[in-house]
Amino acid sequence: MRAFKAPLAACAAAVALSLATALPASAADAPEAPKQHWSFQGLFGAFDRPSLQRGFVVYKEVCAVCHGLRLVAYRNLTEIGFSEDDVKAIAATVDVEDGPNDEGEMFERPGKPSDRFKSPFANDEEARSANNGALPPDLSLMTKATLGGTDYVYAVLTGYAETPSGMNVPEGMSYNKHFAGNMIAMPPPLSEDGVEYADKTKATVAQQARDVTTFLAWAAEPELEERKRMGIKVILFLLLLTGLLYVAKRRIWSDVH
Ligand code: HEC
Repeated sequence: MRAFKAPLAACAAAVALSLATALPASAADAPEAPKQHWSFQGLFGAFDRPSLQRGFVVYKEVCAVCHGLRLVAYRNLTEIGFSEDDVKAIAATVDVEDGPNDEGEMFERPGKPSDRFKSPFANDEEARSANNGALPPDLSLMTKATLGGTDYVYAVLTGYAETPSGMNVPEGMSYNKHFAGNMIAMPPPLSEDGVEYADKTKATVAQQARDVTTFLAWAAEPELEERKRMGIKVILFLLLLTGLLYVAKRRIWSDVH
């Protein structure tokens, strides 16, 4: 027996070690993102429509200069309350490369609702060279891809602060409380009243951060509401089934004493 124990223990240790190293290391150099309350959390959570629409405005007017959102198509915007005409108009503001035409040449045409969001840069190299060598990542899956998810994105957007004395932040970088290493190559994107909201909501930095994060959460998981509705149906079904089975069991066993 004893002979087996050592390899077993070694195995367990190896598993524990690999688990430990698989855990993210970023927690060490940036404080954990403070928990926020989001309308779309919880079993009955749903996206806040006005916030989604404001968030789109922030994305389009601010973030889209540097970040793509290539998994979302313009027509998806009808899901967050834009009309088909709004969507046509929004899509038509960008020029999209299409083709080849009959002469075999690529050409530009105005965007259509079925087009995906146009990325600001043709490729990563161009994106880097426009941003001091740092790559502004595509935001389509950002709230899902990062560990803290929506809380993290909100924390980074609101995490800019004066550089603490004694810290040296190189040219082109900004101090950020919530980015790993506390230095980020993204200049503070949001400013007070940086955008104007059609619904007259005051565009504070925190409000814009909340709205654009909500919008990005939707972009990353547009099926969230459907998934929750399905979850509730499944739970109701299981409850019903449990009840039926209970009744059936009582019947079947009723004459066994
Ligand atoms: C001027 C260009 C620019 C604008 C505008 C901009 N970003 Fe960025 N963003 C960057 C760059 C560059 C990075 C990479 C930073 C780094 O690696 O240090 C980045 C990183 C990020 C990250 C962090 C990703 C990570 O790896 O943890 C998030 C989240 C983000 N941006 C969201 C946004 C949002 C939301 C907006 C709009 C409100 C926005 N950005 C506007 C250039 C920009």
